Amino acid sequence: MKITSSKNITSIILVCFALFGVLATNGCVGSQKIADKSGMKLWSENCQRCHIASSSNTFSHEEWKTIGMHMQSRALLTNKERDKIIEFLQN
Ligand code: HEC
Repeated sequence: MKITSSKNITSIILVCFALFGVLATNGCVGSQKIADKSGMKLWSENCQRCHIASSSNTFSHEEWKTIGMHMQSRALLTNKERDKIIEFLQN
């Protein structure tokens, strides 16, 4: 018995493209939402998890930059999220 005709393969490929399309679009919507979050929101959602957060005037602008780099890897943030949080903390 022949299992796959070329017609079947075509419809499988079409279904794959359709699924991929849906996933790709959802991915974009998801990252858009993260990009819309303010520095304050990202900070409150990500930085309180491990320790009580220091207030913004505890450290200088330069120190916040260094802390941001260090905590970015701990909190698994994207560069954009880190920049927003640092900007929020520097003000
Ligand atoms: C996964 C846990 C974790 C997350 C998430 C995290 N931190 Fe930290 N943080 C630590 C640990 C552990 C230390 C102690 C220093 C070290 O070993 O890195 C620390 C130290 C610090 C310090 C220095 C504390 C002091 O008083 O000297 C600051 C400031 C800080 N974190 C800010 C942040 C900010 C801002 C974020 C969010 C972007 C964040 N942390 C997210 C674990 C975390």
